[in-house]
Amino acid sequence: MKLSLELSAATPPEWVRTVMSGFPAFLQDHADCERKASAMAMSFVAKYPDRVEIIPELIETALEELEHFQQVYAHMAKRQIRLAKEISQDPYIRALMDLCHTDPINRFLDRLLLASIIECRGAERFRLVCAALDSEPELKGFYHELWTSEAKHGNIFVKMAMEYFPQEKVYSRLNELNTAEGRIVQGLELRPALH
Ligand SMILES: [Fe+2]
Ligand SMILES: [Fe+2]
Repeated sequence: MKLSLELSAATPPEWVRTVMSGFPAFLQDHADCERKASAMAMSFVAKYPDRVEIIPELIETALEELEHFQQVYAHMAKRQIRLAKEISQDPYIRALMDLCHTDPINRFLDRLLLASIIECRGAERFRLVCAALDSEPELKGFYHELWTSEAKHGNIFVKMAMEYFPQEKVYSRLNELNTAEGRIVQGLELRPALH
């Protein structure tokens, strides 16, 4: 069941070209993103221990993201690519987090909805990487699996939000955040990275 919204701005073809011309750096960034996605799901568990309805799914998501990290790392190790030594701030994530309300209830909603949007953007971009990887069937298959998994996560976080907020409020805020995300993506500097 699709619960997430369509992205408001498509990733430009120049992004795919930038990634393809710096694929080792892209893999390093991608590994960091998977590790951070796992940590983010567990940070919901740590921050909202009373939200018992969503804890099992958050743990499951954290495990899946950690498995993605393990898989990206295996592809890197095979190609003698190390993990990045310095993990730079992700300008996209920082700009998104700046959109969050400060009061705890609305912040909880914003964080869930942004998690959905981040997953949907990941799915969109992994699909583009998958389409561009014609000379590497193994990696192509991997990115195909990944984009379907991230698209599923995009729906899970909206479903979680609907446990606690009326559907109308969820979709009106999701729509606002989704529009803002499109503007943020269009302003990002192109680099061989997920964002
Ligand atoms: Fe992932
Ligand atoms: Fe994900």
